[in-house]
Amino acid sequence: MQMSGGGGPGMLRGPGAAGAGSRGRSREQPGRSSREQGAEQGAAGAEQQGAGAEQQGAGRAMRRGLRCGAAAASASSGLQLWLRLQAGGAAVLRGFVGAGEEALLAGEVEPQLRRRPYQDRHWDGAIHKYRETEKLHWSKESQEILQRVRDVAFPPQVPQLAQVHVLDLDKTGYIKPHIDSVKFCGCTIAGLSLLSSSVMRLVSEQNPQDWLDLLLERRSLYILRGPARYEFTHEILKDEESFFDGQKVPRERRISIICRNLPLPSS
Ligand code: OGA
Ligand code: MN
Repeated sequence: MQMSGGGGPGMLRGPGAAGAGSRGRSREQPGRSSREQGAEQGAAGAEQQGAGAEQQGAGRAMRRGLRCGAAAASASSGLQLWLRLQAGGAAVLRGFVGAGEEALLAGEVEPQLRRRPYQDRHWDGAIHKYRETEKLHWSKESQEILQRVRDVAFPPQVPQLAQVHVLDLDKTGYIKPHIDSVKFCGCTIAGLSLLSSSVMRLVSEQNPQDWLDLLLERRSLYILRGPARYEFTHEILKDEESFFDGQKVPRERRISIICRNLPLPSS
């Protein structure tokens, strides 16, 4: 990922816009089951793969895909912020699925999505122009892809939600800053971005001047864990605001496929 010189005012809106209104959006999903059969299979190998992938992700982060800001707006402070979030388990893995796999997944969710119209506004106010579903049953091929996601993204032995959240954002759709409810979602959020690239902005709740933009390329996987999960709001920028490093990132219809885990009873 390429670092650019902090929060250039010409390209990015100030982080002050974040955090208003929609924090702590609830991800309550009645009827979700908390176990995924076989999720722990090959956990040791998966862990290694995860660590490798994260390292790879970190390497890539240096080259491409990240734009950050901080009060001082210096590249090094932005980089340090991203390194801190990565150390806490956040990652963006480009090209996590291939074009064929993207088509397979998108095709598989389409019939369920198509049944409903795009909604203007989510009940919690965070998501606009979207439709969504929770999907439990997948083809064998898709299950294999999802297992790859789970292996890379989730710590071993953490019970995961069996249902996968599928969110379909219209070209004009967007997601306002929020933090997924800690009551209903555990330590890790892992999302595959299909059909369109987009810009995800992370803004520190405590220090809104600490923020960064992540380029979520089509077919990439992002992982929010640690501070990126709990201390930063995340949002998906609307088409008009979808710029990265001075370049337009056109927002087309975007489908995200999101795996989550449940909070541990103690947390
Ligand atoms: C959410 C969310 C991000 C995405 O549904 O809570 O933040 O990638 N989605 O669609
Ligand atoms: Mn969210």
